[in-house]
Order: sequence, then C-alpha cells, then structure tokens
Amino acid sequence: MERTLVILKPCTIERGLIGEIISRFEKKGLILAAMKMIWLTDKLLSEHYAHLKDQPFFQRVKDAMRVCPVIVCCWEGLEAIEVVRNMAGKTNGRLAAPGTIRGDYSMSVQENIVHASDSVATAEAEIKRFFDEDEVYTYTFSYLSNLYANDEK
Ligand code: TYD
Repeated sequence: MERTLVILKPCTIERGLIGEIISRFEKKGLILAAMKMIWLTDKLLSEHYAHLKDQPFFQRVKDAMRVCPVIVCCWEGLEAIEVVRNMAGKTNGRLAAPGTIRGDYSMSVQENIVHASDSVATAEAEIKRFFDEDEVYTYTFSYLSNLYANDEK
C-alpha cells in the first residue's frame, strides 16, 4: 500500500467543498490515515513549494495558501499517489478533464481545490512535513476485501 498527501486548499474551505472532496476519496476506496486542520506558515510553504521558488508566482501561490486554515490529509491505497493525482486532474482547472476534482470544481490554475503528492519520494517527504509519526494511523479497514482481490493487496 502507498500513502499520499492531500491538502484541501483555502478556496475549498471557503467555498464549502470540504465534504464533497473528502467524499470523493472515500468513495474511491482510499483509506484515511491522517487528517487535521492547520494554518500554514510562509516557512512551511517555502519548503513545500521549493520547486517553484524561481517562478514569478511563487509568493502569490504561498499567500493564497494562507488565506485561511487548510485541511491536510493522508490517504492510503494501492498506487494511491497516481490514483489521487489522476483524480485531481491537470493543474489548470480550466484544462482539467470533467470528472476530475479540478475539472469539476475549478476555473483556475491557482485556485485548484487540492494539492496532491506527485511521486513516492515527494509523498514521503510531504507526509513527514505535515504530520508527526504518531498522527498517521495504521488500522484494519473492514472493507478491504471488497476493495481489492486477494492477490492485489
Ligand atoms: P505544481 O506543483 O506545478 O502543480 P500541481 O499542484 O498540479 O502539482 O504547482 C503548484 C501550485 O502552484 C499549483 O497547484 C497552482 C500554482 N501554480 C500557479 O499558480 N501557476 C502556475 O503557472 C503553476 C504551474 C502553478
């Protein structure tokens, strides 16, 4: 099983879409391993978006992530990183396919509803960045046999 980090961005909180977005991950069959609400700091965001530090929109993107608290969560599942990236859709909500989260709820590149880890290495670093070890739970999920074949798990 893989774990991936998702952030429900301020636009999602302010538009009252928390339940709808969380519900999509639940219905897909991903297992919630961790979740909390936090107000991000510029320092934490500089780390998180370090790959964008030379972009002209770096500060704008960081500021937009601090408009209000966000919800960070960790979802678990087979190939969860790719599954969640596909569910999120293309970065630009206007170009994201209908049926994806950004395709269904976003008209913007920046106000694009969720952040989702993009690789195994990134997911590992991001989960560590936002959660202490004892905040990420491992537990028996009673639906597991309905979600996967025996040889898939
Ligand atoms: P990025 O990591 O490239 O995309 P993704 O979130 O799909 O992994 O960019 C991080 C965030 O930066 C993105 O979600 C929205 C913002 N952003 C802009 O505002 N303008 C841009 O041109 C790009 C590429 C990103």
